[in-house]
Amino acid sequence: MKKLVLLLLFFSLATVYGQNPAIQLIPQPVEIQQSDGSFVLTKTSTVGFDSQQSRKIAEMLSRKLNLSTGFSIKPQQDKAGSIQFNLNKVPVTLIGKEGYTLVSSPKGVVITANEPAGLFYGMQTLFQLLPKEIESKTVINIPWIIPSVIITDYPRFGWRGIMLDVSRNFFTKEEVKLYIDQIARYKYNTLHWHLTDDNGWRIEIKSLPKLTEVGAWRVPRFGQFGERTAPKPGEAATAGGFYTQADIKEIIQYAQDRNITIMPEIDVPGHSMSAIAAYPELSCTKDTSIKVNPGSSFSEWFDNGTFKMRIDNTLNPSDEKVYEFLDKVFTEMAALFPNPYIHVGGDECYKGFWTNDPGCQALMKKMNMTHPEELQAYFMKRVEDILKSKGKKMIGWDEILEGGVAPEATVMSWRGIKGGIEAAKMGHDVVMTPTTFVYLDYQQGEPTIEPPIYANLRLSKCYSFNPVPEGVDAKYILGGQGNLWTEQVVTLHHAEYMTWPRGWALAEDFWSPKASKNWGNFIQRVEKLFDRADIEGINYSTAIYDAIINVSGKDGKMTVNMDSEVPGLDIYYTIDGAMPNTYSPKYSKPVELPEGPVTLRVVTYRNGKQIGHLITLTPEVLKKRVPAN
Ligand code: ACM
Repeated sequence: MKKLVLLLLFFSLATVYGQNPAIQLIPQPVEIQQSDGSFVLTKTSTVGFDSQQSRKIAEMLSRKLNLSTGFSIKPQQDKAGSIQFNLNKVPVTLIGKEGYTLVSSPKGVVITANEPAGLFYGMQTLFQLLPKEIESKTVINIPWIIPSVIITDYPRFGWRGIMLDVSRNFFTKEEVKLYIDQIARYKYNTLHWHLTDDNGWRIEIKSLPKLTEVGAWRVPRFGQFGERTAPKPGEAATAGGFYTQADIKEIIQYAQDRNITIMPEIDVPGHSMSAIAAYPELSCTKDTSIKVNPGSSFSEWFDNGTFKMRIDNTLNPSDEKVYEFLDKVFTEMAALFPNPYIHVGGDECYKGFWTNDPGCQALMKKMNMTHPEELQAYFMKRVEDILKSKGKKMIGWDEILEGGVAPEATVMSWRGIKGGIEAAKMGHDVVMTPTTFVYLDYQQGEPTIEPPIYANLRLSKCYSFNPVPEGVDAKYILGGQGNLWTEQVVTLHHAEYMTWPRGWALAEDFWSPKASKNWGNFIQRVEKLFDRADIEGINYSTAIYDAIINVSGKDGKMTVNMDSEVPGLDIYYTIDGAMPNTYSPKYSKPVELPEGPVTLRVVTYRNGKQIGHLITLTPEVLKKRVPAN
């Protein structure tokens, strides 16, 4: 008690004498030196930039400041702005291309970097130093205090990505820009744009107009993906959309202004039903009845990880016309996208239609192949040659390792980290995107209340991700990436819900020094960002406040363990059918359930207020939750 009183006294004195509360930022910077005092932004404050290269950033800053403060700051080429952006005349090696230093004192703020990217990131840090009301899009009258601090900051990895699947769900140009805005805030620098799949072809290819006339549209369907009804004969395909090349140029520029490079993906030779709907002759079956898939079931997945496609969604690797087609696609894409890579998919390609095809059989014989995997390797090498002829590098999902990897391919390790380790050991560059740590389409909390999908990935697991596995030379690991597949994501706000807060954890995995990571501290910073997101109008998941419920079984009895990701929550439960609240039993140790059909209801509280969702586990669910052993 005495200690507490002293502590409180210390903090109140500290406030009076100008000491600031601890600065809380995501991603955690490399070095923060906090000091007393602060700068207060007012209507007479100025924003300065020392060279034309940084003008756009100064303008971006001023626009955002003016929106919430109501000031009319106009950035000026200057050396003495209250907030000043400076580019180093002689680059400082330590901070590299994307690093920055931010010095704020009672006199103002100076952000210095070697390149505009660093200034952009310094600006993002500055927003998080300002009061959360800076996120408001309408004027708020509060003191705009910036605490005194010296920050030196630069990223751990050069590839800090998020993948957005726009095939399963089409997001408009404006939505893609909003998503880019959001990820840029947390110092991501790569948007992997999954532009094609079985469910829609989203990029205009002028020399192949049917790709978007036909391939971008599917019959309208609602409900759980994979369980929707198949297209009916003659039914109009009215749902979907695509980006014109003008749209794509606009989005690329928008992203570039935010230090985001867009890496496009054309997923081949599997996942190609939308291309085949447009040009059936590209497949082995040449089935003209194939339509763009609206989320109806066409595959079977077996326990040993193998699968079967009931409708052909693969390009024919033995047909020269397929390579002519790809040459056209990649010619136009190479001209559009400045990113050095084009992602060519390579994942989950069913070989069943190939093995029955005379052309593929002849090619296997001619090339002395013994296994159909080698047909995919052949295909991938041909694709790599096409890309190289356009000045692009090939990257693909880790299946491209099977049957022999293309000579210079970069590998995206998604089926765990195994493929990435193997590729790095062969001297290939790797981007780590394992399902186990970064799949943003997975549920992030209690399975009975989160939107349904077949797997789970909690925030704490995302936060524990280290992209460099033991025993691998770090120089081959370009970085990491979160992947948002959108089978079950049909609005941008739901995309936000799936991305945040997990995207904050990954941002820190990819940017911050490994040694700086600390879950308890991270959670406090996450809660600060929740408050900001509320003001900004960005959706996020609060699954971290929901109870984690595990059930074990022994001798026909079930025992329930409860926990929470956020430390220090109070968990209340009932097994008598009542609604749980603070009058209910408070969880303190594993609960052995009485025999009989018990329904468990659980809810979490903090400081006497409900904070988590109500979880109701029926007798059937409880029974199913006992792990098989
Ligand atoms: C993937 O998730 N199919 C790469």
